[in-house]
Formats: sequence, structure tokens, C-alpha cells
Amino acid sequence: MSAALDTSITLHTAILQSLPQPVIVCGEDMSIIFTNYAAESFFQASASILARQKLSDFIAFGSPILALIESVATRHAPMIEYRVHIGTSRTHEDRIADVYASPIPELEGYVALIFQERTMADKIDRQLVSRGAARSVTGLAAMLAHEIKNPLSGIRGAAQLLEQAAIGDDRVLARLIRDETDRIVELVDSMEVFGDDRPVDRKPINIHVILERVKLLAANGVARGVTFSEDYDPSLPPVLGDRDQLIQVFLNLIKNASEALERISKPEIKIMTAFRPGIRISVSGVSQRISLPLEIVIEDNGPGVPSDILPFLFDPFVTTKLSGSGLGLALVAKIVGDHGGVIDCESRPGRTRFRILLPVARAEHTHATDPQE
Ligand SMILES: Nc1ncnc2c1ncn2[C@@H]1O[C@H](COP(=O)(O)OP(=O)(O)OP(=O)(O)O)[C@@H](O)[C@H]1O
Ligand SMILES: [Mg+2]
Repeated sequence: MSAALDTSITLHTAILQSLPQPVIVCGEDMSIIFTNYAAESFFQASASILARQKLSDFIAFGSPILALIESVATRHAPMIEYRVHIGTSRTHEDRIADVYASPIPELEGYVALIFQERTMADKIDRQLVSRGAARSVTGLAAMLAHEIKNPLSGIRGAAQLLEQAAIGDDRVLARLIRDETDRIVELVDSMEVFGDDRPVDRKPINIHVILERVKLLAANGVARGVTFSEDYDPSLPPVLGDRDQLIQVFLNLIKNASEALERISKPEIKIMTAFRPGIRISVSGVSQRISLPLEIVIEDNGPGVPSDILPFLFDPFVTTKLSGSGLGLALVAKIVGDHGGVIDCESRPGRTRFRILLPVARAEHTHATDPQE
């Protein structure tokens, strides 16, 4: 091989290796000829393991990718398959990707595949749907507050009077009415938050101060006995937000994680932050792509979110708990949305991650940082 060709191959390989999208080249019989680093991490297998396999051994039987490769190889034309579910025998996660396949004219029967994972786009879809759902609760909440709370206070007052006058079992029943009425009032109060459309009173906030506060609150309450670990990016710029609402967001996530960890022998919650300036998102109704570089992840080693509720996780009234209201995550999604951010959840047994992306406070706001923050 001439030195010039050698350099050119090294250069081309380096370019392919540097791509953030997974690239795989398949030869005849679906044998794997080349994988870049992103493909190794996408399929959670090293290049040497992948090279020993055929793609057909590796990708779930009946996957449209196999048919796609055959069509591309026989038609000698590039094709795209959108929203393909990629479940492999190795990765138990079900991931969705757009798959771009093209023939390699110089190499008969070879097909190059590029995978574009859809999580970010789907996250936005789901987030917008949950915002819609939260909004539909808004009207209901306002109606409940007016129409239910007033008669309830009458019932509660009457039950209290009865309780004073009654004896024995009757007294117990009267107290039951009072306690249950209190529970309804509590539920209505928690729904009223959804009807609150006032603009958020935002200040530049160091998110680590919020996270440490929540950790302290939780470690002495809901998360007693759970081991916490942190991986903070100390250079994280401030977020423009409402301190109390952000505390509510992370407290809800940590409460859920702790509840999921109740029967786990070594319960652990990890809190991670990172600055990812590359993440830009397009949102319908906004022409510019918005940048959401602040990433906060709350991870637990619990049993995972039941797969049947995963697509509706941020909708109101979705719960698997006997005494749960199912409003925790709907509220979290509303607050994150009001802050211009997005949230998503990735879950499998042993690792559940809630990831929040938020915009950074712009320079003109940061000088007004609250000295406490
Ligand atoms: N970290 C987690 N691990 C496993 N499942 C989770 C986790 N977080 C949430 N879930 C699931 O999502 C459901 C909805 O959570 P959400 O916080 O909205 O309501 P809830 O916790 O059931 O009720 P509430 O928040 O009112 O106490 C939960 O019932 C649980 O099944
Ligand atoms: Mg909850």
C-alpha cells in the first residue's frame, strides 16, 4: 500500500470515528465490516465483538433494518427508514432511531448505515404532550377549587360539631368524615397549582445550592437510609428560575426515587449536573432552535418505571401507588416547562434516570444574583 493511500485511509477512518452518530458498514450476508466508536457505544459492544457477528445475529429478528439493507443492496440506491425500534439481544433498552442506508458503489454488496437516535425529538414531543395534559387540568382545577372547597368546609365544620356531641362509634365515624374531607381539600389544593398561570418570578440561581438543599431535606425525611452521591460540574452557569418551584421539582423526583427504592438492599440516588452547550432543540411555534445546556440528572438503582406507564409518566393521575395522586411528575413537567426546559425519563430495572435540560440565565440577568444563592 502506498504511503499516500495509507494516509488517506487513516484520515477517512479518523473522520468516521469522530462522528457522533453510530456508523456501521455491512458486507454480504450481513457481516459487520466496520463500526465507529459511536456505534460501539450505541450497541454496547466493542468493535472486535461486533466484527465477529453478523448484523442479523445482533439485531432483533424481523427488524426492518435487515429488510432495508437488502433493498439498498439490490436497488443500489440510498434509503431511509424512520423511527425504527432497535432492541438488541445485548441492550435491553428499546431505542428509536432513524436509519440512513446507502450502497457503497466501489464495494459491491456493501451497505453503510448511519443511525440517528430519536430520543431528543421524542422527548420534545412527549414534553409538549404532557404540557397539554397539564393545561387541560388547569380548567378543572379552577372549577374544583371554587365548587368543591366551599361545600367541603361546610361538611368538615358539621362533622366537627357532630364529633363533639357524639359518643363511641359515632364519634369515630364523625372523625372519619373530617379526616377524609381534609384529604379531599389537600388534593384540591395540590391541583390548584396547575391553575396558577402567573409568570414565574425568576432570579439567577446556582442549581447546586438547590440540589444540596433538597438532598438535606430528603436525607432527613423521605430518603432516610438512601446513599447519595453527586457528580457536579462546578463550572455550571446559573439558571434563571424560581427557587421554591425548583426545590419542589427535585424534591418530587427524589421522593419518587426513594419510594422506588423501598425494597432495595443498597438504595442509591445519584445527582449529576453537566454543561452541554451543544444541545439545541427546535420547538413548534418558535423559529429559532433553543439552547438548553444545563443538564441535571437524578438517577436511582430501583426496579424501574413499569413499562406500561412510561409513555404517560408526566400526565396527571398516572400512579402505581395505593395512596399516590399521580400529580407529582405532572407538576414537575409543568414547572420545568414554565422554566423553558424539558424533562425525560429513561428507565430499566436497576437504573432509572430523570434528565432535566434547562436554559442558562443570560448575562444581563446574572449580575442580580441573590447573595444567598
Ligand atoms: N424513580 C422512579 N422509579 C420507578 N417508578 C417511578 C419513579 N418515579 C416515578 N415512578 C412511577 O411513576 C408514577 C407517577 O409518579 P408521580 O410522582 O407522578 O405520582 P406518585 O408518586 O404515584 O404520586 P404522588 O407524587 O402524588 O405521591 C409512580 O406511581 C411510579 O409508578
Ligand atoms: Mg410522586
